[in-house]
Order: sequence, then C-alpha cells, then structure tokens
Amino acid sequence: MTENATSTPLSQYSAEDLAAFLAEQQSAHAALVAAPSSLNLTRGKPSSAQLDLSNALLDGPDGFVTADGTDTRNYGGLTGITELREIFAHLLGVPTAQLIAGGNSSLAMMQSQLVNLLLHGGVDSPRPWAQEEKVTFICPVPGYDRHFALTASLGIDMVTVPMLDDGPDVDAIEALVKDDPSVKGMWLVPTYANPTGAVCTQEVAARLAAMPTAAPDFTIFWDNAYALHHLTADEAKSADIVSLCAASGHPNRAVVFASTSKITFAGAGVAFLASSQANVDLYVRHLGMSTIGPDKVNQLRHAQFFGDAQGVRDHMVKHAEILAPKFAAVQRILGDRLGAFDVATWSDPKGGYFVNLDVVDGTATRVVALAKAAGIALTPAGASFPHGDDPRDRNIRLAPSVPPLAEVEQAMEAVATCVLLAAAEKYSR
Ligand SMILES: Cc1ncc(COP(=O)(O)O)c(C=O)c1O
Repeated sequence: MTENATSTPLSQYSAEDLAAFLAEQQSAHAALVAAPSSLNLTRGKPSSAQLDLSNALLDGPDGFVTADGTDTRNYGGLTGITELREIFAHLLGVPTAQLIAGGNSSLAMMQSQLVNLLLHGGVDSPRPWAQEEKVTFICPVPGYDRHFALTASLGIDMVTVPMLDDGPDVDAIEALVKDDPSVKGMWLVPTYANPTGAVCTQEVAARLAAMPTAAPDFTIFWDNAYALHHLTADEAKSADIVSLCAASGHPNRAVVFASTSKITFAGAGVAFLASSQANVDLYVRHLGMSTIGPDKVNQLRHAQFFGDAQGVRDHMVKHAEILAPKFAAVQRILGDRLGAFDVATWSDPKGGYFVNLDVVDGTATRVVALAKAAGIALTPAGASFPHGDDPRDRNIRLAPSVPPLAEVEQAMEAVATCVLLAAAEKYSR
C-alpha cells in the first residue's frame, strides 16, 4: 500500500496492510541509510543569507557621538543609548524610560534577573527568594529548552502547564499560583512561541496580569524573543503585558525581554529589558555591580542602521522573504507525506523559528534515532520539556531556518519516512 492510497488511520490498518506498510517504510529508510545525507534541523538561528542582510552594520557607526552628546566609545550609560531605546520602546510598546538596552544576549539578562531575585529579592519581595524554603517556576510546555536549563541550574523546581494555541493554560496557572507562595514565577514566550509558534492572546495576558497570586512577588518572565519575527502579512501583535500588569494593580509582575539576535547578528546584536520603572531601576542598580556600561558603539550603529521603528519592520520583511519558503516546505511535505495516516500533528507558525511536531506517543526518541541513522540531525526528543523529559515521548522541535531550501526539503522528506516507520513499528508490536 502506498503512502497516499488511503485516508484510513495507520492505527486501524489490518495486520496484513500494516505488515506491507512497515516493509515499505523499512526499505525507504534503508535507502536513506545507504546514502546518508548530512543535514541539520536543530539550529534555531539565522542563516548566512539572513546575517548578510545586516552586513552594513560592519561599516558603522558613522561617528561615535549620540544625539545627547554621549561619546559611545567611553564608559558609562548603563541603560543604553536613547536613540536605540526609543526605537525598541516603540516596537515593544513600552515607555522609553522603562526599557534598557544592554549587551548582545537577552538570555544573559534573564539569568541576571533571576539571580538577582534569588540573592536580593525584587521590589515586592519580603525576602530574597533563596531564603524561601522552596522556589517553583511554571513552565509552559513544550517550551524553550534554555529557560528550563537555566531554572534547573539555579535549583528552582519546575511545574509544567500545557502551552495552548492562545497561550499558556491560564486556568492551570491560576490554580497553581492561588494558594502556593512557593510558586514565584513563570516563563513565557508570548509571541510565536518556541517551539509551537503560539501567540498569547490579549485575554490570556490580561488574566496572567490580574490573577491573584499567593507570592506577592510572582514574576512573569515575558521573553518576547520573536515579537517582530513575522512570516506572513498576518502580523501578531504582542499583548502589552507591562500596562496590563500596572492596570491590574501588579505593576512589578512582568519583566519583558527581547533582542536583535535574529534581527541583525545573533552574536553581535543588542538585548533589551523592559518592566515597571521600579523594576528597571532595581535591575540597573544591580547591573552597575557587574559593568560600567554596555557596548554603546554597537548600539549606535544599530540605531543608525535601522533609522526608526519602521526601519526595523522593513528589515524583518527581508528576513521573512528568506524564511517563509522554508517554513512552507515543511508544511507541504508534512501534509503530503503524513496527512493521510493520522500519525502526527504539527504547528503552522505565522512567525518565529520553529515548527512543533508531535508524533505517535512513545515514538519521538525512535524518530530522532532513525533520522540520525539517515544523516539527519534533529533536536533530541524531549528537549522542549524541563529536564528533557517529555512524558509522552512524542515531541520533536524542527528548526528549518539554517539549511538552504533544497536541504530543508530533503531533510523533511527523510523525517517523514522516519515518522511513518516509527509509527508502523509501534502499531506492529
Ligand atoms: C525564546 C528564546 N529566547 C531567547 C533566546 C536567546 O536570546 P538572545 O540571543 O537574546 O540571548 C532564544 C534563542 O533561540 C529563544 O528562542
């Protein structure tokens, strides 16, 4: 039986049809193994063609003095230069005074914020978090592996909630935070989430901002890494979590993070943190213990490169032109190859860097191993869960941004074969 000959779910095949199907997939996989490729769908980073879009940065800045007369070559200016803060404050929908521009990594800012809370506590903390008996973080899953690794590295417990199409499962979150003061915070990638592509709606954001929490210093780490990373003209608008929190009487609840890592250079961009004025002031006080000021030369060349907020938006359209065909290829091949068999579901993101693939329960690890044998590197199964533990062993994160389109297509054809083979093996047992 060929792959597209039927729309009967694979799980309902007769023993005879299943045996034939299994043999067919085994031989397709054997052919891949016999002529292995060297393809990689693990890397959620810009391709060289995307990085080339920002090469003009390497010629900048033009001069070195900012509009307010700051010599960017010198020490100082902990909050970052005003002209760049203005551009990104506008794009992220926060007042310029409440946004700081830092070094190249927003993840580093997240780590600093978390360590500060542990060692010193926050604006609303009765004591440093490290002095609490236990600290727990809510982790929407699947989610960003580095959030979870950072949390684990600091000895913080993690409790998962499902990431739904409209954001994290807010009913589950409300129940967790209501009575347990050890639940101190949560992670969220609100726009084009890593890896599902989900966008947190205004309604869900408003409930997160307003919900009663037993911990007075409950903190939402609002990692808006993909706020501007649209793949289509149907652009998601991020909820204004800082204003929602302020309006709900919890002004210090949310801390927003973003960066130009996937706008200009992933290794030489600029990262941003935004929150209430009190939170920003406290962050900057602690920041002054570790640095005398950020790389303002880089900030100035970024400000000149973009010109204004529209300059950033125009630049992101060029990224989308490179990325969208790769994401379309993933959708087309998954649909063509797997659609008829009911062996997988996958996200169709309108932005961001990933496609979330859920295969038959108990087969994700096997799919990744089968792909590896065919020369295709996939992110380890379970990577998008705390401690790498996907209880259903079904989740695989696909990252199609780096390989050229032809390689994305070749890799996805092979991945589809691996998904079918693993499913057929499971149903044959
Ligand atoms: C959700 C999310 N946040 C943060 C980062 C890293 O950000 P930065 O490069 O600013 O440290 C990534 C990188 O993949 C990401 O996916």
